[in-house]
Amino acid sequence: MKHLLSTENLSAADAIRILDTAEEMALVGEREVKKLPALRGRTVVNLFFEDSTRTRISFEAAAKRLSADVINFAAKGSSVSKGESLKDTAQTLEAMSADAVVIRHWASGAPARLAASDWIDAAVVNAGDGTHEHPTQALLDAFTLRRHWSQIAGRASLGEDLRGLRIAIVGDVLHSRVARSNLWLLTTLGAEVTLVAPPTLLPVGIADWPCRVSFDLDEVLATGPHAIMMLRVQGERMNAAFFPSAREYARTWGFDDDRLAALEVSAGKDTIIMHPGPMNRGLEISSAAADSPRSTVLAQVRNGVSVRMAVLYLLLSGDDSTQPTPAQEATV
Ligand code: NCD
Repeated sequence: MKHLLSTENLSAADAIRILDTAEEMALVGEREVKKLPALRGRTVVNLFFEDSTRTRISFEAAAKRLSADVINFAAKGSSVSKGESLKDTAQTLEAMSADAVVIRHWASGAPARLAASDWIDAAVVNAGDGTHEHPTQALLDAFTLRRHWSQIAGRASLGEDLRGLRIAIVGDVLHSRVARSNLWLLTTLGAEVTLVAPPTLLPVGIADWPCRVSFDLDEVLATGPHAIMMLRVQGERMNAAFFPSAREYARTWGFDDDRLAALEVSAGKDTIIMHPGPMNRGLEISSAAADSPRSTVLAQVRNGVSVRMAVLYLLLSGDDSTQPTPAQEATV
């Protein structure tokens, strides 16, 4: 694997290798000295053309824990046209000897364009491109799901993949790269996915996707899914009215206090609530739900660092299986 551009083309074996490596990285995070020398002398550039809080910080923390040098490049606001600015920027980074470029871009396909170009030799990691993909978010969600469900007392261990899990992804699927990356990855790992959304927020061509579609959130919740993944309503990508009002959306598609209470007395007693952040509290998720013991929002953020460490480690330290595993390496 030279780049990580999408989960659509990620094999189950590669995904599991990333998740297993992330488990080792998580152990490093529990040590007093949370640092490995693995990427000493390597340079990771965070190239962000779009806003981000947790993804950028998470990649930065991950690279630093592996002892890489990190350069943060906030390219947002550039007035140069897309192709030119990306090429110019890439060539600048190449001149600075970047070993990996972590790119977030408003244009779907920008990371793939960069990876396919001869502008740069670095490994390219997609940190979210337009409405297309956000592979490390899906990997950290899969990691969170696998950890949670294999650690539940009294349950047979889940094994290395997600076979047997039923996941509902709810809300603004149309504009969500998180939904797309999760759909591909979760189904590759054997989970069953149901998308729940208003018809106006589902993409054209959804009939060909490997999932079920429902227009009734309460009906899906009553089946007791293992996890319910709430999506942010992406106002900044909406150029029209996709639903009548915020209040109507929250009532029909939001995870509100009534739905939280209903889970307690239904098949959904063990259902966890996920959200990639940032959350619109009161719109797609109520504060009580976001802060409830069922919520994995903060665990997702924590796991994001381990998963991104694993991705950078696997991309930059090569496929040499004779190398020590991260846990075997000495700390610095
Ligand atoms: C997501 C993103 O930017 O795609 N956030 C994130 O990376 N944690 C989801 C979103 O913005 O809704």
